[in-house]
Amino acid sequence: MKFFADTADVDAIRELDELGLVDGVTTNPSLVKKSGRDIIEVTKEICSFIDGPVSAEVLATEADAMIAEGRKLADIAKNIAVKVPLTLDGLKACKVLSGEGHMVNVTLCFSATQALLAAKAGASFISPFIGRLDDIGIEGMELISEIRQIYDNYGFETEILAASIRTVNHAKAAALIGADVMTAPPSVIKAMAAHPLTDKGLDTFLKDAAAAGLKIL
Ligand code: E4P
Repeated sequence: MKFFADTADVDAIRELDELGLVDGVTTNPSLVKKSGRDIIEVTKEICSFIDGPVSAEVLATEADAMIAEGRKLADIAKNIAVKVPLTLDGLKACKVLSGEGHMVNVTLCFSATQALLAAKAGASFISPFIGRLDDIGIEGMELISEIRQIYDNYGFETEILAASIRTVNHAKAAALIGADVMTAPPSVIKAMAAHPLTDKGLDTFLKDAAAAGLKIL
């Protein structure tokens, strides 16, 4: 499973990258707003040290304008995945941009039938939003299962990018189902390392080492 960092915070991406935990990055207008940076400038900086796909989202809602914005975003670096919303205009833009050889991430996916359309439009990635479905009382992870089954039934190569991951349990469930990628805030990715028995065990080992006067260097 690939891990994408769901943030436009360059320092947070660098920190995770040093741990070998960044296979790509996803941003959206809200994340760019949070960073306080210009969208082109921050995307360029992320692409300067991340080799994997970096998603940058269009702001237009009409297909031709999305295509123009998508081309400008794709000009930033070879590893840009142009993010378009799952609307009919977004699908049209996806077909054109993917036909030109650009990676396209179709975002704001909330149903399996939407995901089927994105695959047919040539999306490189489909982004089903787990947390936002959970927020309204719908089991978001079921959507990942449904899309996995449909894509496998027909051999679609579009990668399932589990998005709106809010918890460690979301990450685990998406991995068990077989999502190709998950994108999560750095805090969630780092929380995956935590276990109270690890802390307790380490504490005991360190106390025993000190009591025995053990040294390595
Ligand atoms: C990523 O591509 C999405 O924009 C992001 O995961 C959305 O997460 P949120 O629902 O927590 O805002």
